[in-house]
Amino acid sequence: MNENPDENEKVDFKKHWNAAYQKSPIANLGWYEENPTPSIELIEACSLPKDALIFNAGAGATTLISELLAKGYENLVVNDISPVALAELKNNLLVSKNAHIKFIVDDLTNSDELLKLKNIDLWHDRAVLHFFTKEKNQKTYFDLLKSVLKPKGFVILAEFNLEGAKKCSGLDVFNYNEEMLQERLGNDFELLKSFNYTYTQPSGNTREYVYTLFQKK
Ligand SMILES: C[S@@+](CC[C@H](N)C(=O)[O-])C[C@H]1O[C@@H](n2cnc3c(N)ncnc32)[C@H](O)[C@@H]1O
Repeated sequence: MNENPDENEKVDFKKHWNAAYQKSPIANLGWYEENPTPSIELIEACSLPKDALIFNAGAGATTLISELLAKGYENLVVNDISPVALAELKNNLLVSKNAHIKFIVDDLTNSDELLKLKNIDLWHDRAVLHFFTKEKNQKTYFDLLKSVLKPKGFVILAEFNLEGAKKCSGLDVFNYNEEMLQERLGNDFELLKSFNYTYTQPSGNTREYVYTLFQKK
């Protein structure tokens, strides 16, 4: 964990992330996954129907959305603070006529549109929550998650683990383990699965993640 995680306070996040997505091709980004295998494995472990409502927090230009559509999931809500990222994502999607995809540009720590969501079956976050270094923002994030998720709904949180990097995209991060995520979610959530995962960046460097799957009781 960072001893001084307040560097991020000076950052305009929307500008920062728009610039990150404008600056380099998606496949060169330090968080680009050609195959989002660990997320897909956890999503499939939920055994949700194909019309379940899946929310991807801070999706960026992830390949996960294409993968989910290819697997027949047809009811997706895709969020990011960066309109540039979501425009990139849209450009790369092949959407079948049965699919309903809602794109929401909004800040997970100061939301407006996102607060109107309800009955989410699955909340998925890879490499987003760990950028919220202030306790106030972490609390707002978890309050939003809890307010939009259905009873029995699932939560996948994949963040840099305690041995992991202390920075990403030039920003400080707040590292997690499964106990810390359980504590933030509270006793209404049961941990179903958790594993550490080494992600290899396009540059060949590695990043250590903890992947967790919880279910609301
Ligand atoms: C490291 S990238 C990960 C993107 C994607 N989840 C993936 O796995 O490829 C972090 C993403 O979080 C988004 N993000 C950062 N802060 C956010 C916020 N407050 N609200 C919504 N999205 C945010 C960024 O724009 C960026 O797309």
